[in-house]
Amino acid sequence: MKLIAALPARAASLSLALMAAMGTITTTPAYSGDASPEALVNGLNAVFGQHNARASHAKGLCVKGTFMPSADARSLSKAAQFTASVPVLGRFSMGGGNPKVPDTARPAPRGLAVRFDLGTGKSSDLVMLSTPMFFAKTPEQMLGFLQARVAGADGKPDQEKIKAFAAANPDTTKQSAWLASHPIPASYAGTSYWAVHVFTLTNAEGAATIVKFKAVPQTGEVGMTDDEAKAKSPDFYGEDMKQRLAAGPVSFDILGIVGEKGDPADDPTAVWPEESRRSVKLGTIAMTAIEADAACDAIIFDPANLAAGISGPANDAIFAVRSAAYAISQSRRTK
Ligand code: HEM
Repeated sequence: MKLIAALPARAASLSLALMAAMGTITTTPAYSGDASPEALVNGLNAVFGQHNARASHAKGLCVKGTFMPSADARSLSKAAQFTASVPVLGRFSMGGGNPKVPDTARPAPRGLAVRFDLGTGKSSDLVMLSTPMFFAKTPEQMLGFLQARVAGADGKPDQEKIKAFAAANPDTTKQSAWLASHPIPASYAGTSYWAVHVFTLTNAEGAATIVKFKAVPQTGEVGMTDDEAKAKSPDFYGEDMKQRLAAGPVSFDILGIVGEKGDPADDPTAVWPEESRRSVKLGTIAMTAIEADAACDAIIFDPANLAAGISGPANDAIFAVRSAAYAISQSRRTK
């Protein structure tokens, strides 16, 4: 398979070992493009530097809690986490590969990765961003986006290159436009998160429903202006989370936004009109405590690590390449 051929032997075997060890159904379709997972991780490292950290979402905060499914969840999916309450491990993060990026940065999407612990070594992951879209439709487009941003001899990226790439690839500007037009999250607990791709839920009777997952904060969204951000310390999210958790759980409702005929299913830059789509509450994540970073760093939150009853998109080229890229990043950060 070209995917495996494109990987260094160590990363490929790591990836296969992980899939075997996870014991849950992984739905990573084969990827056969020129922008290999390794090239993408190299691209991230070239833009952000290699820091002995994740190639993207390098800065983050590990937490733990529980997930309680709603009564409606099992009508859509037979996944174990939708039939009984399970423990969760979570990681909030700042997009990009700079481990020192300030929590006040406007252009970085925030991340929320969740591992549902299904017991006996099994798990199911949900990896989300604070924007409803990703910035690239294909791995080739992502690689081009990164290559345009690599710093030149003067230590700065060439703005003309960036402009030319954006003009030729207008879909890659949607995420940054979204971030520029929305408040900066004033807390990791104060923003919604989307899993961006389209997933298929299958219930015990075999009925399938296509959904986009969205996590909505129970306290509502809390944003800040650029001026308010200036008054905050660059690492204030950690203290904010500690204070919130001391007062009680930090909770997010997990929604399945149900797709309709014609809704794009393979393009992570495409957004559905959520307001006019049915949305089903699948359950609530209650984060209850900070967890040691080591617990999150020891694993990969893998978007294709999914319990039976949830499957990823079959023809989304970005989804196809993520697991292998994450395994390469993990092999580099744990060297
Ligand atoms: C081809 C496209 C993508 C590539 C190459 C890529 C690459 C990476 C890499 C290398 C990591 C670090 C993995 C690790 O060391 O454990 C990462 C983390 C992450 N990515 Fe992506 N990514 C892609 C698409 C996406 C998309 C579409 C989303 C939207 C949901 C996303 C959200 C995240 C989040 C939230 C994390 C942090 C996970 C954690 O906290 O451990 N990524 N990504």
